[in-house]
Amino acid sequence: MAFRKDFVWGGASASYQIEGAAAEDGRGPSIWDMFCKEPGRVLNGSTGDVAADHYHRYQEDVDIMKQLGYKGYRFSIAWPRIFPEGDGKLNGKGLDFYDRLLDSIIAAGIIPYATLYHWDYPYALFRRGGWMNPDSPRWFADYAAAVAQRLGDRLKNYITFNEPQCFIGISYDSTEHAPGIHFPIWDTLLMAHHVLLAHGRAVQAIRAAVKDSQIGYAPTCSAHYPATDSPEDQEAARKAFFHIPPDRCFWSVSLWSDPVFLGKYPDELYTLHGPHMPKIGADDLRIISEPLDFLGQNIYNGMEIRAGGPLGAEIVPRKDGYAFTAAKWPVTPESLYWGPKFLWERYKKPLYITENGLSCADVVSLDGKVHDPARIDFLHRYLRCLKKAAEEGVDIRGYFHWCVTDNFEWAKGYTDRFGMVYCDYQTQRRIIKDSGYWYRDLIQNNGEEL
Ligand code: FCB
Repeated sequence: MAFRKDFVWGGASASYQIEGAAAEDGRGPSIWDMFCKEPGRVLNGSTGDVAADHYHRYQEDVDIMKQLGYKGYRFSIAWPRIFPEGDGKLNGKGLDFYDRLLDSIIAAGIIPYATLYHWDYPYALFRRGGWMNPDSPRWFADYAAAVAQRLGDRLKNYITFNEPQCFIGISYDSTEHAPGIHFPIWDTLLMAHHVLLAHGRAVQAIRAAVKDSQIGYAPTCSAHYPATDSPEDQEAARKAFFHIPPDRCFWSVSLWSDPVFLGKYPDELYTLHGPHMPKIGADDLRIISEPLDFLGQNIYNGMEIRAGGPLGAEIVPRKDGYAFTAAKWPVTPESLYWGPKFLWERYKKPLYITENGLSCADVVSLDGKVHDPARIDFLHRYLRCLKKAAEEGVDIRGYFHWCVTDNFEWAKGYTDRFGMVYCDYQTQRRIIKDSGYWYRDLIQNNGEEL
């Protein structure tokens, strides 16, 4: 058997990228609302004020997913809709929206997976120090509890955080994302520690509210893969996969996943940043490593690695003419074989690919359709590799394509189209792309024909 019978084929999305309705029904501002207002931060001055208008058109989007036979849908909940000030007074209307969305997803026969935090941090909390504040883990746990208490009768699958590598690293180290302020390494490590504690405390809060919950976490990675099948290259790729790059330490797998799944920070982090590490409380790592049900991993690409060089592992330079996507991301299908394999070996947790996909220069053709052969080819290549990993015994439970509809791609505004469903932002008309129909057929035969 390749993919399990109950394999969850689905699509993913995130609140700020699709919902719009930024000031509706009592939603408070997030750091992304404010970032978008700063000139020069987002390409073409775009904002998520309207985005794909999913807040009003969610039923249409769910209908499309149903038509395509999706088994699962991963969406995120906007914290500032639930707590406009981040904590304190709960906004019932915000929860009402997710209540309606959930009912509609379930009525379509689709399993909901909710991410609690996909980057739209309440601006009011940012003004109180955000992740620097020692209360920040509690704020997040309180929010998680409120969501689980209200929706937990129907919502069983939870993902705490999406890509801490990005919402800490790209936001406070390299600064392309909101709030886009550089902090020194010791403060960024302190924020990282608070994020990890927030994760653990949220897991406790969800478990207390929903006994039969399934909880995971969705970090990202560069899924490095070996240049050849030789044991030396494989070992080099494994090493590179979990290595902490000294110049980009937040862009690492082990910094974010070892504490959660192994209950310890990696030794390499202490070698690099021992003097900069925050003070770690006696119970902290126990809280951070509260047992999880699954690892959700976002995988888009990686680098080819061979044995050699001073570290024993080195990057093989990309060859002239290598394949890349419209966002100029390399196409490396091997990542979806080696990534799951290495993660399974190290963490031994059932795995979901919580994001994978590409942006293409999609247009509506004269025939009124959207032909995206590059997306079909990409998915075909990547999913073959995932299938091979499943066949070799990696416990893979599901795959969520990023994204359902085209959407607001952060600092790149609306210039990248990642959807399987085209969105005309002027009219909000949706058109299922060719890849959507291809994916529907793939779901129907559970990937047998890959
Ligand atoms: C990931 C993000 C997601 C989307 C894709 C293209 O890093 O989690 O929101 O922007 O990239």
